[in-house]
Amino acid sequence: MFIKDAKFICSSSAVAQCPKANMPEYAFIGRSNVGKSSLINMLTGQKVLAKVSSQPGKTKLINHFLINNAWYLVDLPGYGSIINDYIAKRENLTLLFVLVDSRLEPQKIDLEFINKLGEYEVPFAIVFTKTDKLSKRDWDVNINRYKTTLLAYWEELPPIFLTSAEKHTGKDEMLSYIESINAEIRK
Ligand code: GTP
Ligand code: MG
Repeated sequence: MFIKDAKFICSSSAVAQCPKANMPEYAFIGRSNVGKSSLINMLTGQKVLAKVSSQPGKTKLINHFLINNAWYLVDLPGYGSIINDYIAKRENLTLLFVLVDSRLEPQKIDLEFINKLGEYEVPFAIVFTKTDKLSKRDWDVNINRYKTTLLAYWEELPPIFLTSAEKHTGKDEMLSYIESINAEIRK
């Protein structure tokens, strides 16, 4: 899929303020500084659509971006009460991309969040970020460890994407995946 148009719509401090829930919506979540905003810029091919910062906690609101006038990408702040509300209530939430730093061993806060998604029945995929910061051998080890950890809770693994906003890795895979879901919804 080609993103020909990506525009910022609004920032909301609560679910009730979000745009009308009339299009498929894909949201990005993960710990502060994991690279959510950078990934959105990479996918849309726009350098400064979502605000990036080396200081954790840059994104404080729910930010909606309209893509090709057909679906939303959403940049979320780090874990917290706004997020829980968004996940529980946002009707058009189609898929949540949970971002984890490919350099780290599985973090408790991410695993607790992922396991909670089962209760909310929200479809999700895992996105490993910043793969440019380590060798293939190292991220292979980390990703396999992550899979093993997930399989202790889940019967099957979610889709997994390996990305680098720096090197533009994983862009085609993520956009094709989104497109395949959008096509299913249109049917
Ligand atoms: P908050 O909005 O604070 O929750 O952070 P975020 O998850 O949106 O992270 P953001 O995209 O602002 O990136 C945080 C830092 O990581 C910035 O300094 C980015 O330049 C850096 N970064 C993000 N993605 C990558 C990547 O793929 N590779 C490298 N090397 N650095 C990255
Ligand atoms: Mg951000």
